[in-house]
Amino acid sequence: MNQLGLGIAITGSGSATPEVALDNHQLERMVETSDEWITARTGIRERHLVDAQGCLSAIASTAAQKAIAMAGIAPTDLDLIILATSTPDDLFGTATQIQHLLGAPQAVSFDMTAACSGFVFGMVTAAQFIRTGVYQNVLLIGADILSRWVDWTDRGTCILFGDGAGAIVMQVNESDRFLGFELRSDGTLNKSLQLAFKAQTRELVEGVTVSQGNYQPISMNGKEIYRFAVQKVPEVIEKALFRANLSTDEVDWLLLHQANQRILDAVAQRLNIPAEKVLSNLAHYGNTSAASIPLALDEAVRAGQIQSGDVIAAAGFGAGLTWGATIFQWGR
Ligand code: ACO
Repeated sequence: MNQLGLGIAITGSGSATPEVALDNHQLERMVETSDEWITARTGIRERHLVDAQGCLSAIASTAAQKAIAMAGIAPTDLDLIILATSTPDDLFGTATQIQHLLGAPQAVSFDMTAACSGFVFGMVTAAQFIRTGVYQNVLLIGADILSRWVDWTDRGTCILFGDGAGAIVMQVNESDRFLGFELRSDGTLNKSLQLAFKAQTRELVEGVTVSQGNYQPISMNGKEIYRFAVQKVPEVIEKALFRANLSTDEVDWLLLHQANQRILDAVAQRLNIPAEKVLSNLAHYGNTSAASIPLALDEAVRAGQIQSGDVIAAAGFGAGLTWGATIFQWGR
C-alpha cells in the first residue's frame, strides 16, 4: 500500500480468559448434543465463561495491562483507548471504565462495535489516528462476554461461544509495519446473525408512545454464516495483500477470527496457505467474538511462535454482516 503518513508498529499484546471452563461433555447435560458432534463440526472442545462476579472491564483491563507491559510503556503514555466489543458492561460505553482501571487519564477512550470483526475494524481505526500524527500510543482491546447473550437452550448456537479479552499496543514507528487492509460490510444479510433489541410499545400519555424492551439472545443462521465466511474472507485477505504488495506465499501466519475450525481450514485451503501457518486456539476458547484474534495472537507471541518481523494476515468476520483483513508485521 502506498502509505501516506507516519509508520505504525504493533509493539505489545496481552490476553485474559476466565478460569472457569465449560467442556463439551458438560454441554451434553444441558442440550441434546455430543462431544463428537461439536468437535467434528467446529473443533471446539471447551469455552471459558465469566461468572456473575466478573465483568468486561475486569478481563479487558487485565489483557490491556499485559499488552502495555510488553510494549514497555506506562498507562500514562496512552493517547487513545479503543474497546471493540458487542457486550459492554454499560451501553453508554465501557472504555472509560477501563481507562480509569488502568490509570490512563490522558487517553481518549471509546467503544466501537463491529461484532466479530471489531478487532480488525479497531486496528484500522487506530491506524488512522497514528498515521495522521494525532496520537502516538494507542491501546486496542477486543473483549466480549457473549455468554451473557447466548440462549443456553439453543444447541445451534450455545456450543460455539466463549468469553475472553485480548489487547495490543499500536505505536508510531520509524518503519511502517502496518502494511495493508480491506474492510467490508453488507447490511442485507443482517438477519443472519443478530443480538437484536425487541421493542414493546409503551404509551406515556395519549398520543405519545415510546418503545421499551430488551436485547434478545443471539440468533444465527449457521449455514448462511458459514457460506459467507468461506467465500468472503479469502477475497478480503487477497485484497489486503494486494494493497500490501505481498503474495500469500509471503504470509508467515494466517490469523483468522476463531469461529470454527472448518472455516479456518477452508479459508486456508482457498488461499493455498499450509495448515502449519494457521493459528488456532478455538479448541480451548470457542468463539470469543472481538477477543478471538488478539487472544490467538497473544498466545502465539508468548509461545515464541510469532517472531519479530513475521508477516501476519488477520481477518475478522461476523454480524452486521462485517468482514475485513489487516496485513502487518509483528514488532518494531
Ligand atoms: N448437536 C447435535 N446436533 C446439532 C447441533 C448440536 N449442537 N446443532 C445442530 N444440530 C443438528 C441440526 O439440528 C441438524 O439436524 P437435522 O439434519 O436433523 O435437521 C444437523 O445437526 C445439521 O445442522 P446444521 O445446522 O446443518 O449443521 P452445520 O453442519 O451447518 O453446523 C454450525 C452448524 C457448526 C453452527 C455451522 O453451520 C457453523 O459453524 N456455521 C458458522 C457459524 C459461525 O461461525 N458463527 C459465528 C461467526 S460470526 C460471529 O462470530 C458472531
